[in-house]
Amino acid sequence: MKVLVTGNGGREHALAWRASLGESVSQVYVAPGNAGTALEPNVQNVPIAVDDFAGLADFAKSEEVGLTIVGPEAPLVDGFADYFAERGLRCFGPSRKAAQLEGSKAFTKAFLKRWDIPTAASETFAALVDAKAYVRECPMPVVVKADGLAAGKGVIIAQTLAEAEAALESMLSGAAFGDAGRCVVVEEFLRGEEASFIALCDGRTTLPFASSQDHKAAFDGDAGPNTGGMGAYSPAPVVSDAVHARIMDQIMQPTLKGMAAEGSPYLGFLYAGLMIAEDGSPKVIEFNCRFGDPEAQPVMMRLKSDLAALCSAALDGALGSQTLRWDKRAALGVVMASGGYPGDYATGHPITGLDAAETPDCKVFHAGTRLTRESLGPTSGRSPGAKVDSFGDPIPRSGDLGRGTVLTNGGRVLCVTGLGGSVTQACEKAYRGAARIGWHDARYRSDIGYRALAREAGG
Ligand code: AMP
Ligand code: GLY
Repeated sequence: MKVLVTGNGGREHALAWRASLGESVSQVYVAPGNAGTALEPNVQNVPIAVDDFAGLADFAKSEEVGLTIVGPEAPLVDGFADYFAERGLRCFGPSRKAAQLEGSKAFTKAFLKRWDIPTAASETFAALVDAKAYVRECPMPVVVKADGLAAGKGVIIAQTLAEAEAALESMLSGAAFGDAGRCVVVEEFLRGEEASFIALCDGRTTLPFASSQDHKAAFDGDAGPNTGGMGAYSPAPVVSDAVHARIMDQIMQPTLKGMAAEGSPYLGFLYAGLMIAEDGSPKVIEFNCRFGDPEAQPVMMRLKSDLAALCSAALDGALGSQTLRWDKRAALGVVMASGGYPGDYATGHPITGLDAAETPDCKVFHAGTRLTRESLGPTSGRSPGAKVDSFGDPIPRSGDLGRGTVLTNGGRVLCVTGLGGSVTQACEKAYRGAARIGWHDARYRSDIGYRALAREAGG
């Protein structure tokens, strides 16, 4: 089967790489991909944007793609899976209606209440005067969330009433996030440890991946602004067997049941962002309708099963008979970012040390990278089926291509992912790899996995 993965981040590199190793898979395409997917054996980039529904559908038809896996959330919220289904194309991802679990926090909070699924107490408002009256009664800190997609920036944890009021004003006026902020959720601040719980879903059955945990804050000690995620590891020790059972019983299964009962059966990756309280009780912070980034990198590093065959089984409603096989070792990924991220940063810097960092226990997943046009030597003529870079230009076989020709092209650039007998050992492998890689103004956190490391050290 030919597989198409849409997106260009580290998550998509990890999904495409894992899919390419499956027995059921003859070829993986990534649209549009990055330098990492371009250099991966059996993976080919195609220069089509993730929101070009018609272009992607035409490509999937003409190349006889048997399965499309959607990386990012926005196309799913905009109905990508419906568009493919209407054209008889097999796409693993939730319908527009089911993707509301990520697309609208107001929808999700109402859904969770209807089905008695544990989550922070909240109220939803469209009118500023009502929202302001409500926050005046709330204990601080309080959490203010824009209803719609806001690229991970729509959540304000207000320490004071003045901060909460300012957040409400900027969101409800439309100034902060446009229409995504015209309705807000005001929510109780939860304490505990966060975990990411991601599952394959076929509308009825939930098949969970190994647990994981990411670090959203930019700087060591979980300080500084929120980012897309500066590192992640799997398994997350906070998700003990008992906690795992509670998450399945109280959150994942009721969610699948509720969505099906409401006429939007959930098919695709379902990512529950959870807060685990000290007593082990889980609450939903948010749902995402796609895999996590950077959680995908350590989780895919550990997965042994044929990913595309599993997604295909889900499309046939047959996940119930499937199991997942895992590398028993732990994996930990360190995100290397451009200096300045998540604020302004420069791109176009050559990256060195990529080959030196790769070992059997360490893989470098790419996110914001691209290959230089100049690296295409005179021997790299266009030929049918040749790999193309993000400009649509042919890419020489990896043997012809010096690794020095990979350039930075985004905020999060790489995720260096190690495997080891414990999270501590995986962490050492990842940092050893990261230390070999460099570019002008590269930066990364030095404490990824610190909670798991403390648990493993008995602290
Ligand atoms: P969200 O986009 O809803 O996942 O929120 C982004 C981040 O804000 C989460 O990963 C948490 O770290 C934090 N957060 C969101 N809601 C809450 C809450 N109710 N209590 C504590 N932290 C929260
Ligand atoms: N790592 C957080 C996310 O994928 O949303």
